[in-house]
Amino acid sequence: MRLLVLGGTRFVGRAVVAEALARGWEVTALHRGITGRTPAGVRELLADRTTPAALSDALGSETWDAVVDTWSGAPCVATEAARALVGRADRFGYVSSGSVYVWGEHVDEGSPVVDGDAHDVDGPYPALKRGAEVGVVETFPGALLARAGLILGPWEDIGRLPWWLDRIAHGGRVVAPGRPDRPLQYVDVRDLASWLLSGLDVGLGGAVDVVSRSGHATTGELLEACVAATGSDADLVWLDEATLAAAGAEPWTHLPCWVPESGEFAGFLEADTTRAARTGLVCRPVAETVVDTWQWMTSDRRRGPTATSTGSPQMWSGRCSPAGEQRDAGEVRAAHHRTRYVKWRRGARRGSTAGRRRGG
Ligand SMILES: NC(=O)c1ccc[n+]([C@@H]2O[C@H](COP(=O)([O-])OP(=O)(O)OC[C@H]3O[C@@H](n4cnc5c(N)ncnc54)[C@H](OP(=O)(O)O)[C@@H]3O)[C@@H](O)[C@H]2O)c1
Repeated sequence: MRLLVLGGTRFVGRAVVAEALARGWEVTALHRGITGRTPAGVRELLADRTTPAALSDALGSETWDAVVDTWSGAPCVATEAARALVGRADRFGYVSSGSVYVWGEHVDEGSPVVDGDAHDVDGPYPALKRGAEVGVVETFPGALLARAGLILGPWEDIGRLPWWLDRIAHGGRVVAPGRPDRPLQYVDVRDLASWLLSGLDVGLGGAVDVVSRSGHATTGELLEACVAATGSDADLVWLDEATLAAAGAEPWTHLPCWVPESGEFAGFLEADTTRAARTGLVCRPVAETVVDTWQWMTSDRRRGPTATSTGSPQMWSGRCSPAGEQRDAGEVRAAHHRTRYVKWRRGARRGSTAGRRRGG
């Protein structure tokens, strides 16, 4: 397979490139060369894709079997790239997000999505992702839309699992949110990449919620795996949601990977994943994700020739805090959730049921 990755140097794109190389595919990656470089064996095209002429020049007249786009900014940029590749690639995969669903109404791929305009230049994260989906599908009607949930694994540049590993490695009493047997739902970035490439290989199309089944792991298993991986003497102190809310702990940002089970966040980690499983998503054990992420954080790999600014020790430690979460689409999403959290807390104080999700 001849694969073009639009991106490829940070987190998801990086995993896609690695997986494609491992499959013996011929890989081209287009990016600016700012956040990093791709490994040996990848053909790099350097261009700022926000300038259509630069994109077109870099793409030349080449053709590919499949394209993967990880774009998370203005939909018009994703739309432009898809148009530039029409007739020159057979299959198209877009790394989208579960954020495209109308808040509180997500059950499965048939759930209502937010409005998105393929030509928008700005907007809230859900609309950006949806607009990009629309732009891609307009040009590639059979495109595969990987609506990923929470993504964890080596090279994570948001600082969620790295935050927990870093905190737990410091030892002592560590606040553990909610209840240990609370089901968690996420996808290891390498499992996402593998699923995406297999899907493109067999011509899979349409939208798929790419995330583990709810309960593939629990909050307790995630945090215990962090204790084991770091060899820490950390003592996990489980605090209930009322205590956390009273203390002002912000779900998702102050305490990554956690949201309250009740109120507006109810159902947040409980999407139906039937289609993902049917189309071949295999999720590795949480311990493997945690160990490999810790190994990446503590190994010399991040200082290697292909290390990126987002993967550097300075960056990941700096971003293991809410204040560090300011840069990319993941942070926009976090900000979106923060806004909702404020409403959740107000609701909790009033004992209100307003804004509850399905079953909440
Ligand atoms: N993290 C989560 O939990 C989560 C959940 C759901 C969905 N998602 C989605 O997962 C995706 C994550 O992707 P990623 O950032 O990890 O992908 P990536 O492909 O590894 O990194 C982004 C790439 O875009 C390139 N790029 C940025 N601006 C560019 C420009 N103007 N022109 C050309 N290239 C440019 C970057 O390189 P240069 O900077 O060097 O150009 C980099 O190679 C996003 O779409 C996000 O919405 C994430």
